[in-house]
Amino acid sequence: MCGIVGYVGKDKALPKLITGLKNLEYRGYDSAGVAILDGEKLDIVKNKGRIKNLEEILDYDKLGGNIGIAHTRWATHGIPSLENAHPHMDSKHNFAVVHNGIIENYQELKEKLIHLGYTFVSETDTEVIPMLMEYYYEIEKDVFRAFQKTTSDLKGSYAILVISPLLPNSILVAKNNSPLVIGKSEDGIFAASDIPAIISYTKDFYFLEDGESALINEDITFFDKNFKEIQKNYKTIDWEVDATSKNGYEDYMLKEIHEQPKALEESLAGIVLNNKPIQFMNLSLNKDYLKELSNIYIVACGTAMHAGLTGKYAIEKLCRIPVNVVVASEFRYQDPILDKHSLCIFISQSGETADTIAALKLARSNGAKTITVTNVFESSITREADYTIYTHAGPEIAVASTKAYTSQVGVLISLAIYIKETLSGSSSDTDLLKKELLSIPKLMEDIMKDTEAYHMLAKEMMHVHDLYYIGRGNDYHTAMEGSLKLKEISYIHSEAYPAGELKHGPIALIDNGTYVMGIITDSKTSEKTWSNLEEVKSRGAKIILVTNQNIEEDIVIRIPLVNPILAPLLAVIPLQFIAYYIAKEKGLDVDKPRNLAKSVTVE
Ligand code: F6R
Repeated sequence: MCGIVGYVGKDKALPKLITGLKNLEYRGYDSAGVAILDGEKLDIVKNKGRIKNLEEILDYDKLGGNIGIAHTRWATHGIPSLENAHPHMDSKHNFAVVHNGIIENYQELKEKLIHLGYTFVSETDTEVIPMLMEYYYEIEKDVFRAFQKTTSDLKGSYAILVISPLLPNSILVAKNNSPLVIGKSEDGIFAASDIPAIISYTKDFYFLEDGESALINEDITFFDKNFKEIQKNYKTIDWEVDATSKNGYEDYMLKEIHEQPKALEESLAGIVLNNKPIQFMNLSLNKDYLKELSNIYIVACGTAMHAGLTGKYAIEKLCRIPVNVVVASEFRYQDPILDKHSLCIFISQSGETADTIAALKLARSNGAKTITVTNVFESSITREADYTIYTHAGPEIAVASTKAYTSQVGVLISLAIYIKETLSGSSSDTDLLKKELLSIPKLMEDIMKDTEAYHMLAKEMMHVHDLYYIGRGNDYHTAMEGSLKLKEISYIHSEAYPAGELKHGPIALIDNGTYVMGIITDSKTSEKTWSNLEEVKSRGAKIILVTNQNIEEDIVIRIPLVNPILAPLLAVIPLQFIAYYIAKEKGLDVDKPRNLAKSVTVE
C-alpha cells in the first residue's frame, strides 16, 4: 500500500527521500511524488508508474531544500494518474500533504469545501486534507492550530505528513490506524510508513499511538489525541541494514526462500528447547484458563491464514480443543461467538493489515483473550493485542511471503505444544515433537541444496494455463499455500483442493496435459490421496508429486519424513521454488507482482 517518507535535517532532503521511497517499493504502488521545501519555496514533482519515472523528471539542483516529504501511491480512490498522485496541495499552494490510509468521511468534507468555493483537482480522498488546512488557516492564522482542526475533522485511517512555507523548517505528522514511525539520526529526523524505509539512516525509532501527532524540526515535539504535549522514548531496532538488501541474490524472494532455515531457527530460539517445557516471553496462559476454553479462533489473511490452518491442525491434534480459522475480512461479519472463554490468535507478518487489526479489536471488545503473531516490532497490531509473539524472520521485502510463513508455522506449532504442556505436562510425545521441530532448519537446508530440479520443472510448466494442487489434512493446507504463491507471482490460474473433493466437481476441469501437483506427507492418508492422483492421471493429467512416502510417480520431489504436524515446513519449499522459477522464466518481476501490495492497510 502507499508508502511515506519525510526528512528534516542538515542534508539535502531529495536524495534521502528517493532512497526511502526505493526501500518502500516492495509495498506495491502505481505512482510516486515528492515535495521539497527550500526556504519559502515549495516544489512538487510527481509521476505515474515506477520511482525511476519520477527520478527521470527530478532536477536535483533545483530541488535543493533540506525538508521534504515523499509518497508512493497504491490507488484506492481514483485511477493511477498524475492528478491523483501525492503530494496534494491546497489551492494557494501553501500546504503539501502525503497520506496513507482512507479518509472515510471525505465525501462529506469535500462537499462542504466545494460549497465554500474550493475546487478539487483529484479524485482522491486525500485532497480534502490540504484544502481543510487552507480553510482553517484562513480562520486561525496559525499552521499548527489549522493542523489540529483538520485532523480533528478526519474520520478513518491516516498517516499524514504536511510541509508548508508558513511553518519553515518543520514537518507536521499525524497518525490514526495507519502505520507511521519517526526515526532520529545525527543528520536529521525522518518519518516513514515503515522501518525498512529508513533503517539505512537510523535504528532509533519513536512509535506514535493512534490519535497522536508530532511537530518535527530540529527536535520532535509529540502531542496526545487532545494535542497536549507528551514525552516519548525511542526504541532501538536490532535489524541489520544488510537484512534489507538482496545480499547477492537476484531477487528478494529468492533470498527470503533461502533465509527460511535461519528465520525459523531464530523464531524458535528461546522458546523451544530440548526436554524443557515451551516458554514464551510475556505469554502465560494458566491451566485453569485453558481448561475453561470453549473455542479458539485463528484469524488472518492470505498466507498468514494458511499458516493459521497448520496451527489449527497442530492445536486440534495435540490439545483436542476446537479451532476455527477465519479470514480476517470475514470474521467481523460472521457474528463470531466470542466471550471470555474464547482465545483468539491473530497472525500478521506486517502487523499492519487493516482487516486483521479490525478483527482483533472486535474480539477484544467481546471479552476474548487475544494473542498476535507478528514479524514487525511495535507494529500496530502489537498495541491492540493482550499478548504478542514475534516471529524473528527479519524484514520480508518480497510481496510473496515465504520466510514469514514458515516462521509463523513454527511459532504456531510451538504454541500448540505450549498449550498441550500447560494442560497436561510434558510427555515423551511432546519432547519428541520439539526435538523434531528443532531439526527442521537443517532439513530445510537439505531441500535447498539442489534447486536445479525445481528450475527444470518450472521451464517445463511455464506455459500452462492452469495448475491444481491437492492434498489431505495438513497437505491440503500446504497445497493452498503453494497455489497462492504460484498465482500471485506467475499470474497462472491455480486452485487448491482437498484431494477427496476432486470427484465432486473439479475433476471436470482435468484434461489431457493438465498439471496436478499432489502433496503426500502423512502415511494415514497417503493411499487415499494417491488414488485421487491416479484418478486424474487416467483422465490425462500430468502428476508432480511432493512426498516423504514410499510412492513412485513419473515426477517425484522427495522430502524428508517428519511428523505430519511439521510437514508443511518442508513440503512448502519445493512449491515456493517452483512458483519462483516459473515467474522468472516468464520474465516477471517476482518481488513486486502486479496489483499487489506488501502490507494491506485498507479494509
Ligand atoms: C501472500 C501474502 C499475503 C499476506 C496477507 C497478510 O504471499 O503475502 O497473502 O499473507 O496480505 O499480510 P500480513 O501477514 O502482513 O497480515
